[in-house]
Amino acid sequence: MDLSWLVVAAVFLLTLAYCLSSRNSNGRLPPGPRPIPILGNLHLLGDKPHLVLTALRAKFGDVYSFKLGSYNGVVLNGHEAIRDALTESAFSGRHMESAAFPRQGGIVLTEGKDWAEQRRFTLKTLRDFGFGERFTHDDPRVHKLIGLLNIAIQSESVTVLEKLSFFIAWLHPLKKYMKTIQQMNKFMEETLKMMRDIIQNHKESFQQDQLRDFIDVYLNEIEHATEETPTFYGGRGEHNLPVVLFEMFIAGTETTASSLTYALQYLAVNDDVQEKMYREIKNVVGSTRRPALTDREKLPYCEATIYEALRHSNLLPRSLPHKTTEDVIFRGYVIPKNTIVIPNLHSAMRDPTVWGDPENFRPERFLTVDGALKKHHDALLPFSFGKRICLGESLARDQLFLFLTSLIQQFCFKPDPNSPKLTVELRLM
Ligand code: HEM
Repeated sequence: MDLSWLVVAAVFLLTLAYCLSSRNSNGRLPPGPRPIPILGNLHLLGDKPHLVLTALRAKFGDVYSFKLGSYNGVVLNGHEAIRDALTESAFSGRHMESAAFPRQGGIVLTEGKDWAEQRRFTLKTLRDFGFGERFTHDDPRVHKLIGLLNIAIQSESVTVLEKLSFFIAWLHPLKKYMKTIQQMNKFMEETLKMMRDIIQNHKESFQQDQLRDFIDVYLNEIEHATEETPTFYGGRGEHNLPVVLFEMFIAGTETTASSLTYALQYLAVNDDVQEKMYREIKNVVGSTRRPALTDREKLPYCEATIYEALRHSNLLPRSLPHKTTEDVIFRGYVIPKNTIVIPNLHSAMRDPTVWGDPENFRPERFLTVDGALKKHHDALLPFSFGKRICLGESLARDQLFLFLTSLIQQFCFKPDPNSPKLTVELRLM
C-alpha cells in the first residue's frame, strides 16, 4: 500500500480512538475549551500553563474541563472550589503517569490505603522525631545529588515529546527511551542507592530501646509489622523506606531552597520591607543570639513577610496533579473516576477579587491595623489543601522562618549595582 494511505489510515484510526475514548459515558463533566484529537487541550498550555488556566476561568468558571491528551481533566480555580474539592477523599488520588520519576511505593505517587498508611506514619514520626540524618554543605554525596538533580529538573531540556508522554497513554511505553526521563531515572537510582547505604548503617547500630531518628523508627515499625500494617510487612517496608526518604529529599530540598531564594530577592528589591524586618528582629531578639522558633509570636512582621513570599512566589502554581478515585458529584457535575484534577493554586493566590493588588509584594496584607499577624487566610494555599496537603508544610515554614530571620539579622541584601535591574523572575514548574 502507498505510504500516504497508511498515514491517512493511521490518522483516521487515531481520531476514531480519540473520539471513542473521549466520549464521556459515565459522567457529566463541566464545560471547557474544545479539545482537538490526540492532544485534547494540551496545545493551549504554552510555557506558562497556570496563566492560561487562570485566564480560562473567566470564560468557563471555577470548575471546568480540560482534556489532557488521552485523559479527562478538571481544573479547580479559586480558593472555594479548591478547598471544597480537596477536602473530599474522592479527589485524593494521584495521576501517576505524570510523574517524572516513575516508581512504586512511597507517598507522593500512591493512593488509597497504602498512601494513607505511609503518609500517616511519616507525618507522625516527623512531628515526634524530626528527620535525624543531616548533611553538611561540604558533604560530597550532597554535591553529587544536587548536580544530578539539577540536570534532571532543567525544564529547558525537556522536549515537547517528553512532556506529551506524561499525558498520552500510547506514548507511555516510549518513556524509557527519552533522554530527560533516563536522566531522572539515573538520579533516582543514585539517590535510592545512597538512601539504602544510610539505612544499612542504621541497621548495623540499631537498638530497639534507643530509637535515634526517622529511619530507626521506620525500621522498628518494619520489625513489628503484621498484616494489619501491610505497607510495612513482608518486604514491603524494606522497599518503601528508601522510596519515602527519596521523596522527602526531592520534595523538601528544591522547594524550601527556592522559596528562601525568592524571599531574599523580594527583600533585595523591597528595601523598606527588609528594613522593617531587621528592626523587628533587632528589637525582639537583639543581635547577640540567633532567632529561635519561640520568637515567632513576637515577630509578626517577619512572619507576614514569609506568608507574602510564599503567596507571591507560588512555587507549585498548579500543585501536583490529583485524580478522582471514584465517580463524584461536585458543583452539580458528575466527574468520573480517574479524571485528572488540577488545583490551580495560582488562581487563588493571585485572585484580584480576594487580594485587591495581588501582583504587589506587600506583607502588610497579612497584618491587622494593630500590627498583629492574620494567621489564617482562605486563599493562601502555597502547600495546597485537604487530604494531600504538603506533608512538609510545618517543617518548611520552620526552616524558612529560621533561615530568613537569621540572615536578615546578620546581613543586608541589595541588588548588584553592576547588574541589570533585579526583578524577581519566577521559575515556575
Ligand atoms: C516551601 C516549601 C514547600 C512547598 C511550597 C511545598 C508545596 C507542596 C505542594 C503544593 C504539594 C502538592 C500537594 C497536593 O498534592 O495537592 C506538596 C506535596 C508534598 N510535599 Fe511539599 N512543599 C514544600 C516543602 C516540603 C518539604 C520540606 C517536604 C518534606 C520534608 C515536603 C514533602 C511533600 C510531600 C511528601 C508531598 C506529597 C504529599 C502527598 O502526596 O500526600 N514538602 N508540597
